[in-house]
Amino acid sequence: MSAIPATFRAYVAEKIEGPDGMPAVARGVRSFPEAELPPGEVEIRVAWSSVNYKDGLATRIDGKVARISPLIPGIDLAGQVVASDDPDIAVGASVVAHGYELGVSRHGGYTDYQRVPAGWVVPLAPGLSPRDAMAIGTAGFTAAMSVVALEERGLTPDDGPVLVTGASGGVGGTALAILADRGYEVWAATGKPDEAARLMTLGATGILTREDVTGDGRPLESERWAGAVDAVGGATLPYVLRSLMTGAAVASSGNAGGPKLETTVFPFILRGVALLGMDSVNVSIARRRHIWDRLATDLRPRALGDHVHEVTLDTVEPALDGIVAGQARGRWIVRIAD
Ligand SMILES: NC(=O)c1ccc[n+]([C@@H]2O[C@H](COP(=O)([O-])OP(=O)(O)OC[C@H]3O[C@@H](n4cnc5c(N)ncnc54)[C@H](OP(=O)(O)O)[C@@H]3O)[C@@H](O)[C@H]2O)c1
Repeated sequence: MSAIPATFRAYVAEKIEGPDGMPAVARGVRSFPEAELPPGEVEIRVAWSSVNYKDGLATRIDGKVARISPLIPGIDLAGQVVASDDPDIAVGASVVAHGYELGVSRHGGYTDYQRVPAGWVVPLAPGLSPRDAMAIGTAGFTAAMSVVALEERGLTPDDGPVLVTGASGGVGGTALAILADRGYEVWAATGKPDEAARLMTLGATGILTREDVTGDGRPLESERWAGAVDAVGGATLPYVLRSLMTGAAVASSGNAGGPKLETTVFPFILRGVALLGMDSVNVSIARRRHIWDRLATDLRPRALGDHVHEVTLDTVEPALDGIVAGQARGRWIVRIAD
């Protein structure tokens, strides 16, 4: 028998026919039946979720993210286990779940309760609360994955300055904080000049404008960066590739600036640079748990919590629209229960 009440509150996005006869999305908080949750071994009282770029897309008709309708969005969630068929996941444990199908082709985190497969659940290490976990969220997890990938390839703070693009956003801001805490000289690229002071408090050594990191498309720039974290793509990733030092790598996770990549092969064949693809959705549960354990310890961003904005299920909508419009300044987290 389920430990979830027969009905509870959830924020739901549903495709409908708009007043003009065109497809539209109806969004809002409504009562949701337990019987319509998908199957799974673990039931969770959701305490916090967060707003990621993909969540904004999942609630738009042109977003190309939602695979079911109606959909409870929210690609990540954290809370307490209220029922579990898995001996390794105890009732009462604080857990986080994100990625796989959550908030895309299966109901996600914007809900009082959720049911998920045991193989998607990450027990939180002591010292990392569900709120902390969502202050990090999928964006921060992806930032940590990026730093780990660069360091596994050999990057150290002695190699030279590193670049983080889209620095005012979730992936960028968290990557900046993690790298600065680990002793790197980090340069933050942002399209928001008024974010410079906040980015310096996160640990940036210097600020670059969006124009600085797009440039005129020449085949190569002078070698400047020992490594880079890029969640912008578009016209920015080609600049990053052109300006990496010989043998350096960029961890690429996003397309906030556009999905097209127009580059020459010269950075690869004349400087041996590497483009490391980051996919937080399908990463194995073992790797996911390992990175979360590190986020509770040596990768934990020092400034965690200083740069989050709280919303609720009733006030999440402007954040969903704002993140797609490029207005992110830190992270929005969704308070669902304490
Ligand atoms: N691969 C994965 O597993 C994975 C995981 C998480 C996120 N992502 C992707 O990573 C990207 C960022 O996610 P996020 O949650 O960090 O989003 P976010 O909080 O909205 O941050 C994105 C940042 O990119 C910059 N930006 C926005 N529009 C831009 C434009 N037109 N041109 C250049 N820069 C622009 C802005 O920073 P500035 O104004 O400071 O430049 C913005 O704050 C998204 O594409 C998301 O889907 C992928």
